[in-house]
Amino acid sequence: MSNLDNHLQSQRQQYEDDLCELLRIPSVSTDSRHKADVERAAHWVADQFQQLRFETEIIPTQGHPLVYAQSPPRPGRPVVLVYGHYDVQPPDPLGEWISPPFEPTRRDGNLYARGATDDKGQMLTHVKSAQAWIESQGELPVQIKYLIEGEEEVGSANLHHYLDDPAAAEKLACDIVVVSDSSQFARGKPAITYGLRGLAYFEVVLQGPRQDLHSGVFGGAVTNPALALCRMMAALIDDRGRVTIPGFYDGVDPLPDDERDQLASLQYSEDDLKRQLDVDALSGEEGFSALERRWVRPTYDINGLTSGYQGEGAKTVLPARASAKFSFRLVPRQDPARIAASLREMLTRLCPPGIRMELREMSHAPGIVIPRESPFVAAARRAITKGFDREPVMIREGGSIPIVGHFAERLGVDTLLLGWGLDDDNTHSPNEKFSLEDYHRGIRSSAWLWDEISRIGNIA
Ligand code: BES
Ligand code: MN
Ligand code: MN
Repeated sequence: MSNLDNHLQSQRQQYEDDLCELLRIPSVSTDSRHKADVERAAHWVADQFQQLRFETEIIPTQGHPLVYAQSPPRPGRPVVLVYGHYDVQPPDPLGEWISPPFEPTRRDGNLYARGATDDKGQMLTHVKSAQAWIESQGELPVQIKYLIEGEEEVGSANLHHYLDDPAAAEKLACDIVVVSDSSQFARGKPAITYGLRGLAYFEVVLQGPRQDLHSGVFGGAVTNPALALCRMMAALIDDRGRVTIPGFYDGVDPLPDDERDQLASLQYSEDDLKRQLDVDALSGEEGFSALERRWVRPTYDINGLTSGYQGEGAKTVLPARASAKFSFRLVPRQDPARIAASLREMLTRLCPPGIRMELREMSHAPGIVIPRESPFVAAARRAITKGFDREPVMIREGGSIPIVGHFAERLGVDTLLLGWGLDDDNTHSPNEKFSLEDYHRGIRSSAWLWDEISRIGNIA
């Protein structure tokens, strides 16, 4: 295996250059103007697998294509399914980028570009680790199946449909899923993530008068949609930071003592977080620490608000329309569909006379928790310890990867969430980056993971 380590060392530049190539493709899945770019990214990924002589296909969907590939079977050894995504979030606001989002740039040990960490860089670690095995050892010690999609950032609806086909479930049959699309606990503190929050995302549109009105001529007599929206949105949460939708907390269990202790044992500084974000205070649901609020408690956030005059200076207008995009992060056992129904009832009740409301339901994903002890978790722990020269800690995270819950349901397998990123990587925000050192440690950990998993016997 020193062979393999040497090979990894010698290929560092090549692996970085390959990542840069993928990062130059603006595969923004939510923006139809980038449809051809998203397609191009899918082909780039497929080409990586073809170069390794893996059986490879681009699977069309109603939306962006899936890329599927598999290495040769290794009878008697576990089968691994690697999941990742080649699509990225929009780069806006463009003006805040120090270097352009789709011109990957090295700066102080980091690679800056949209998708650098989420998820092109992290996803590629599992491709490069396989490449290193093949180039230095001739073959992989386990069979790896890859499913790399182009719609994670828009909720993975088409992948959900694809998985509902029994033939797809058979094709993807595996013993464990591996996903690197999350974070370490902190710089130099690698982690295994055993829980993710779910998501229920909505858009509400309030329509008042036929068109915008002079606010002096009509204001006071006509319901203002922007004001109505503010009241309605604010009514969904109380002064103690609790969501007020009836039944919202159904199924939300208090944290078991062992987990609470385990969270508390992580050295976490709320002051550091305040400094990192440049805020003078944190807030949230009463009675919980910041870490608990971020990882194990459900929440409500407004993601976008639109109404009235947004241009320079003042305009006295009573807007005809107001809309909001908003979402709830969910924990396991909360039911997105029931919450949606209860929300609709509540907003309908809160909507004042003179306003017509339309509520659109966007993506839904349940929260998940994965067993903290299994032969696969133990294998990952050993692999990361070798890759990072440091033992990983067990964490939960607040973000969502919609398909992971579905893997458990459809394929009946657990997922190893092995995040190589950092909380300050600026995902979904300007100046996204990925530490190059972490990219290489990720590749190294991944290479060791195939070895460690191949040694697990007696797979049911
Ligand atoms: N990689 C993230 C999810 C993530 C981030 C998990 C940090 C753990 C830690 C993923 O690409 C993402 O952004 N998911 C979306 C899902 C949504 C668009 C349906 C999210 O969490 O907002
Ligand atoms: Mn991601
Ligand atoms: Mn993302």
